Formats: sequence, structure tokens, C-alpha cells
Amino acid sequence: MRLTFTALLLAVAALAQHPAPKNLKLLPADENLIPTMRSFTVALGQKCDFCHVQGDFASDEKHTKEIARHMISMAKEINAKFPDGKTHVTCYTCHRGATEPAMAPEAAK
Ligand code: HEC
Ligand code: HEC
Repeated sequence: MRLTFTALLLAVAALAQHPAPKNLKLLPADENLIPTMRSFTVALGQKCDFCHVQGDFASDEKHTKEIARHMISMAKEINAKFPDGKTHVTCYTCHRGATEPAMAPEAAK
């Protein structure tokens, strides 16, 4: 009982922190949204404001957010081509903490 109540409090706190998404074209509005966003920041080595206008996550003002939508679709298409149907390619697979993935090893540049 106590556990359920704590879980409820946590859920309410999470909702208060992140109001219901208003402008999702690709990603589902579920509990994975914020963890997915955090994975973007790690993959690109940036903070939330690399893609988002301060104080308005729903805004599409930043060009990088639109590029990110293309990247989400692209990664989905690539993964759909794997014979086992599993997710093998993520943002991190290419980006490795950088905004522009390296095209060749350092030594070959
Ligand atoms: C690489 C770009 C990128 C980064 C970095 C990023 N986001 Fe996002 N975010 C997006 C995109 C793209 C969408 C819209 C996805 C869609 O259309 O389905 C989005 C949507 C959202 C939404 C839903 C907004 C709404 O009302 O529609 C929230 C909330 C959000 N992001 C929070 C965050 C937080 C918090 C961080 C930092 C931890 C973050 N984002 C980092 C690209 C990014
Ligand atoms: C198959 C490799 C690959 C994957 C997977 C990939 N990207 Fe990219 N991404 C690139 C390359 C290459 C560029 C640079 C393209 C250019 O310079 O025009 C790029 C550029 C970007 C940019 C623009 C950066 C800037 O400085 O303007 C954003 C934002 C971005 N990717 C987000 C993402 C996100 C979010 C994901 C995961 C959903 C992702 N990418 C997955 C290869 C990839």
C-alpha cells in the first residue's frame, strides 16, 4: 500500500515536471520520452537546449530539432532492415558523443 502511494506521488511529480507533450510527430507520449531525450544528449554530447528553445519543449524553432526528427526516422528505417528485427543502431552508434560523426579515423584525415 505504502509502495503504491509512493509510486503515485512519483508519477504526479514527474507529470508536474513535464506536462503532457503537445508536439510529438514520431515518438510515443509515454514514460520513455524523457529517457530517450537524455539518450540524445549523451549521444550528441550536448544539453537539451541544443534542440530545444528554453522553456518551450514543444517549439520547433530550432533547426536541430527538425534534423533530429529526420535522424529518428532514419535510425528506425536502418533498424527495420536487420534480419532479427531488433534495434542495433542508435544515435550513439554513429554520433559517439559528437554532433557530427567522424567519417574516417583520425589518422586517415
Ligand atoms: C538531438 C535533439 C534533441 C535533444 C538534445 C533533446 N530533444 Fe527533446 N525532442 C527532440 C525532438 C525531435 C522532439 C519531438 C519528437 C517527435 O516529434 O516525436 C522532442 C520532444 C521533446 C518533448 C515533448 C515536447 C512537446 O510538448 O511536444 C520534451 C518534453 C522534450 N523533448 C524534452 C527534452 C529534454 C528534457 C531534453 C534534455 C534532457 C531534450 N528534450 C533533449 C529532440 C531533442
Ligand atoms: C547512420 C549514422 C547516424 C545515426 C544512426 C544518427 N545520426 Fe545524426 N547525424 C549523422 C551524420 C553523418 C550527421 C552530420 C550530417 C551533416 O553534416 O550534414 C548527423 C547530424 C545530426 C544532427 C545535426 C547536428 C548539427 O550540428 O547540426 C542532429 C541534431 C542529429 N544528427 C541527431 C541525431 C539523433 C537524435 C539520432 C538518433 C535518433 C541520430 N542523429 C542518429 C549520422 C547519424
